[in-house]
Amino acid sequence: MLNDLREMITNSADETRDLGKKMASNCKGGEVICLKGDLGAGKTTFSQGFLRELGAEGALTSPTFVVMKQYAIKKNVLNLKSIYHIDTYRVGSKDILDLGWEEIIKDKQNIVLVEWPEKIKDILPEYSIWINFEIVDEKSRKISVI
Ligand SMILES: Nc1ncnc2c1ncn2[C@@H]1O[C@H](COP(=O)(O)OP(=O)(O)O)[C@@H](O)[C@H]1O
Ligand SMILES: [Mg+2]
Repeated sequence: MLNDLREMITNSADETRDLGKKMASNCKGGEVICLKGDLGAGKTTFSQGFLRELGAEGALTSPTFVVMKQYAIKKNVLNLKSIYHIDTYRVGSKDILDLGWEEIIKDKQNIVLVEWPEKIKDILPEYSIWINFEIVDEKSRKISVI
């Protein structure tokens, strides 16, 4: 998905955003992308690049407090509809199911980004893509497809 890239180091938030853009441009629709890693590791930063690449508008803020944000896909070559950016930090599988999870992932015109995916492992589809974020130092992050 990140082309041949299994693992790379970014040295700034912008480089992580660029990686998000690159991944977005390779998506076809129907992806569930799990973003795993500690607080501050860059999951939301990556998501911002991803969302911007597909034409999401408005403030691309973390969904931590609202749990789920839906963005219309405006840059639409593939007839994609929405990106759902989910943060399960404060909730669990049942809360996510109650937000219409099954319908959302069933629609192959949607793309779903999940921060803290390990908290809803029981409802993640088998085809989910996992990306791991690790803090190397203040400005560097190791990002790998796992
Ligand atoms: N290489 C980097 N990649 C991503 N974020 C970085 C990087 N270097 C520094 N940062 C900073 O680390 C923080 C990452 O925060 P965020 O993306 O919200 O993390 P998470 O969603 O994983 O908790 C931001 O303040 C960002 O500016
Ligand atoms: Mg976050």
